[in-house]
Amino acid sequence: MKSKIINLLRQIQYPGYDRDIVSFGMVSAVRLEGKSIQIDLGIKSSNESNKQNVHESVQKIISENFSDYEIIVNLVDVDGKQSAKTASHHAHSSNDPWANQTKLPQINHVIAIASGKGGVGKSTIATNLAIALAEKKFRVGLLDLDVYGPSMQVLLGENKQPEITDEQKILPLTKYGMKIMSFGFLIGDKSPVIWRGPMVAKLVDQFFNDIEWGSLDYLILDLPPGTGDVQLSLVQRVKLTGAIVITTPQDLSLADVRRGADMFRQTNTPVLGVIENMSNFICPHCGNSSEIFGHGGGIAESARLNLPLLAHIPLLADIVTSSDAGKPIVLNRELVEIRRVFMDLAESIVKIVKQQEEQNHVH
Ligand SMILES: Nc1ncnc2c1ncn2[C@@H]1O[C@H](COP(=O)(O)OP(=O)(O)OP(=O)(O)O)[C@@H](O)[C@H]1O
Ligand SMILES: [Mg+2]
Repeated sequence: MKSKIINLLRQIQYPGYDRDIVSFGMVSAVRLEGKSIQIDLGIKSSNESNKQNVHESVQKIISENFSDYEIIVNLVDVDGKQSAKTASHHAHSSNDPWANQTKLPQINHVIAIASGKGGVGKSTIATNLAIALAEKKFRVGLLDLDVYGPSMQVLLGENKQPEITDEQKILPLTKYGMKIMSFGFLIGDKSPVIWRGPMVAKLVDQFFNDIEWGSLDYLILDLPPGTGDVQLSLVQRVKLTGAIVITTPQDLSLADVRRGADMFRQTNTPVLGVIENMSNFICPHCGNSSEIFGHGGGIAESARLNLPLLAHIPLLADIVTSSDAGKPIVLNRELVEIRRVFMDLAESIVKIVKQQEEQNHVH
């Protein structure tokens, strides 16, 4: 099996070269432990994006070929130590790289909305979910962490500059009964976002710590797509209650869900469940439902990953128009069914979080 893994790794070329990572000597170790495959990559380069690129290709090709295994890919220093940034996590290891995850004071639960792939509906779902929780009378914050493409200004029809307190803290804006913050509010629409990875991570870190949320029951984080620097910096620094991974029913995005879920698992962040978005198309004229993207992918995948499927959200033109109008669909009380989907989703999340809390008390 090891030789099969190595042969697969030989198919991956280092970016910009006609040479594969095995012959470059970048594969430092391959370990098999039960149902887990661990691969250490020692890449001597200061180019973070090349490393990340190789990391992702390895994760992808190995998980595609060994779908029953947990795949853990580590970037190690060339002398064999795990580099802090993408080191994998073992729940009980003594030199726990995630031990300095801090719990945000005054915020009971932080939930990240993530996906491996872009455009699957993270921002839409994060926003509607946050509003649904606020309607259930929870104290809610919504934070758009997509530095490359913040979307909250449009989704919530809000674009004010936040106030800064005397202590140099950023005060979130208030909208639809919740507190909201986005990079977009600070940088405006026009500033080109040209930050490189490490800068972005630093900025996120700072931004995150500098917002004066007050007391919150739930803080919902809208993440950028993928498993890049923002996500890593976040899961390293902040103790999340859990992550929710969004998928659409196509196979490609399901492979991405696996990657997203793997990233959180490696950093000991519970994945609370999967949401399948754009599951079926409901004809605006006749009300019939058809499954244009195929059937049941989210169900199969969430079962395989042993995660609950938290919701199926239909593909609905009204979702786009309401988002474009800055008034998320859950606020529209006439659209009873879709509103119920989001209210039920909020309910499920409240339940899961409560169960998790009880379990943590027992242990
Ligand atoms: N269930 C749905 N039915 C119809 N359109 C939808 C649905 N969910 C999302 N969309 C639309 O799909 C587009 C992408 O959604 P959204 O911006 O929420 O995705 P995202 O995952 O946040 O994207 P990104 O990765 O770029 O941040 C938007 O135009 C949104 O209105
Ligand atoms: Mg988004």
